[in-house]
Amino acid sequence: MHKETLYPIFTNSHQKEKMPKIKTIYVCQNCGNQSPKWIGHCPSCGEWNTYEEKIEIKKSKSAILPDSVNYEDSQPYRLSEISSESIKRIDTCNRELNRVLGGGLVPGSIVLIGGEPGIGKSTLVLQLALDLKNRKILYVSGEESIQQIKIRANRLKKENEDCFFLCETSLEKILAYVEKLRPDLLIIDSIQTIATSSIESTAGTVSQIRECTNGIMKYAKTQSTPVLLIGHITKDGSLAGPKILEHMVDTVLQFEGENQYFYRILRSVKNRFGSTSELGIFEMGDSGMKEVLNPSELFLNLEDNGLSGTAIACAIEGNRPLLIEIQALVSSAAYGTPQRSSTGFDTRRLNMLLAVLEKRAGFKLSSKDVFLNIAGGISVDDPAIDLAVISAILSSNFNIPIDKNIAFSGEIGLSGEIRAVNRISQRIMEAEKLGMKKIFIPKGGKSIELKNLKVHIDSVSQVGEFFKKLFKK
Ligand code: TYD
Ligand code: MG
Repeated sequence: MHKETLYPIFTNSHQKEKMPKIKTIYVCQNCGNQSPKWIGHCPSCGEWNTYEEKIEIKKSKSAILPDSVNYEDSQPYRLSEISSESIKRIDTCNRELNRVLGGGLVPGSIVLIGGEPGIGKSTLVLQLALDLKNRKILYVSGEESIQQIKIRANRLKKENEDCFFLCETSLEKILAYVEKLRPDLLIIDSIQTIATSSIESTAGTVSQIRECTNGIMKYAKTQSTPVLLIGHITKDGSLAGPKILEHMVDTVLQFEGENQYFYRILRSVKNRFGSTSELGIFEMGDSGMKEVLNPSELFLNLEDNGLSGTAIACAIEGNRPLLIEIQALVSSAAYGTPQRSSTGFDTRRLNMLLAVLEKRAGFKLSSKDVFLNIAGGISVDDPAIDLAVISAILSSNFNIPIDKNIAFSGEIGLSGEIRAVNRISQRIMEAEKLGMKKIFIPKGGKSIELKNLKVHIDSVSQVGEFFKKLFKK
């Protein structure tokens, strides 16, 4: 008889062993870190006031009986027993978006799109919703009214009879409509505005975001419906909400770009179904986001020839080669300590390059102010732009212009050597495509098997030798 009473209040000593232990722990709602006491500042993720009380019931070992497992739910498989059917992706009708997603939307996957306010998240997903024909789409907006969406759609000059719009913030209602409509694609704009009544806190709080994502995820996985979630971004540029949000979703795409520039870059930060080194480039115009298929033309301004201090670098961003303009200004320091500042390029790397120029090539730059700018507001991590950076600096220092039909690609080492860079043939092909006359590349490395090129390839191995070739002719 007493076997059925699971947790009796009054027990004798032999039953006491089977009693579950009730323990209170505190869990960080952002990263899931646990602590026995409440703390204000999470030592793991650095967030403030994210700890919430959780009651944990520890069952005694005998309570976890092997026969309580339902073997039909899941079971272990051998690799050979799993069918290797390739996933059928949904074409988004947008080449740049397909590229970042790794070839299209995967059914049942959850994609989180983050970015600063006004960068174009809603525009892009609305465009996608209106372009996808013959699929039922549900676009849920917690931010805008139906009229506002209509105005935006008019601006995009698009229509789609299979697309339904819902202005709602309650998760329960949204899921009810989703159940009724059974869409082939669900869009939520934005996850921070949705709230479930099962939690007391307001929309946008860490626990709400987590619960709502969980609810949507369960639906997506069981019905194989892809979901696009739009996410806000915090002041420091990371996605607002719990860090586990990023662990829960399959793909995280992030919008980058400055408001004063018209182009936007969509980068894949996490992708369970594709590469994270991909990026898509869009141009924000009067009628929405246009795909940019030849980005080099966007960043290059080949007209103002004859000015000193600029050099063209051939960089690789994501998987694509890109010609970009590096601008430098070198002037005598007005005050004691010379200034070094850069936009779009790491200032520490700039200091290193200046030290290499001073020590290995004998250029006196320690008393000069050096300003460096990557035109177009893009920021580049590719070390292959080093060669263009030092060329622009010296061009400004000596006031000798560099021909705009010359491109540069090479990393500078601490001893002044010009080091090999990856995908050199792709870089050369990009220079060729944009009609460059010459490209400077590092000597050695992989042999290049490119034939019938119009662009002249000049291989260099040391900075001293390189400057002689560049300026003394
Ligand atoms: P929006 O897509 O609402 O950004 P988010 O959802 O990321 O906050 O806003 C995009 C901005 O772009 C907005 O300031 C208006 C502008 N815009 C255009 O320039 N062209 C267009 O066709 C549209 C629809 C918007
Ligand atoms: Mg929006």
